[in-house]
Amino acid sequence: MRTPVVIGNWKMHGTVAEARVLAGAIRDAIRRPRGVQVVVCPPFTALAAVAEVLAGSPIQLGAQTCHHEPAGAHTGEISAPMLADLGCRWVLVGHSERRKEIGESDEVINLKLRAAMAHGLTPVLCVGETAEERRQGFTFTTVEGQLRAGLAGVTAAQMEKVVLAYEPVWAIGTGVNATPTQAGEVHGYLRGLLSELASKEAAQSVRILYGGSVKPENVDTLVAEPEIDGALVGGASLNAPGFVAIVRKAARAGTAPKE
Ligand code: 13P
Repeated sequence: MRTPVVIGNWKMHGTVAEARVLAGAIRDAIRRPRGVQVVVCPPFTALAAVAEVLAGSPIQLGAQTCHHEPAGAHTGEISAPMLADLGCRWVLVGHSERRKEIGESDEVINLKLRAAMAHGLTPVLCVGETAEERRQGFTFTTVEGQLRAGLAGVTAAQMEKVVLAYEPVWAIGTGVNATPTQAGEVHGYLRGLLSELASKEAAQSVRILYGGSVKPENVDTLVAEPEIDGALVGGASLNAPGFVAIVRKAARAGTAPKE
């Protein structure tokens, strides 16, 4: 059985003081998570402070992106070994906001994912179609292209350590989540591709998270879907009680057998 993961992506929110308060509240509410792994991804500026707050807690630290080179003349960038040094265990790669706003290509995303793995971080490869791509019937083609390019050059053994996040762009920050059936279809498709790229066994062990307007009110039905192994949460992760409720509900789904 795959242990579900719930990741809070705080995006570009909060001062260091606010990040400490939020992380502290989550830490105090989730002392012994059972049947779920919990990760928070604060902005870079708050990583060190949140690492301190979470020291000794089972809640793990992640970053929202990384550069693909370990060091060098890359003004404003942060590398995977720098993140590992701060205590990060996870890093998001290929988030649609970065694909769109920064123009991150599949090729660069692939380099980032490989850099993350080379430095012991678990990469969370984000894929997802826009509303227009869905309307035109390109959902599967889009995510397939992102997955194949994102995992290029990654060995079958390494693939088992990657976490995928299906985040339809039209569901991010809109309040309109994909239905469990819509997400389940795409997750199943991605898992089929992983079987082909790695092996059936490897594909069965990879966690595929859903992201896009996940809230305490909809997380139960989403994670009850057999193909959904947790959630990547944006807006709702900025509110400690809401995030904690999401984690608890995902944990119940993690300990309950899915059909
Ligand atoms: P929201 O939960 O705010 O829709 O954001 C999802 C997301 O982009 C997480 O990475």
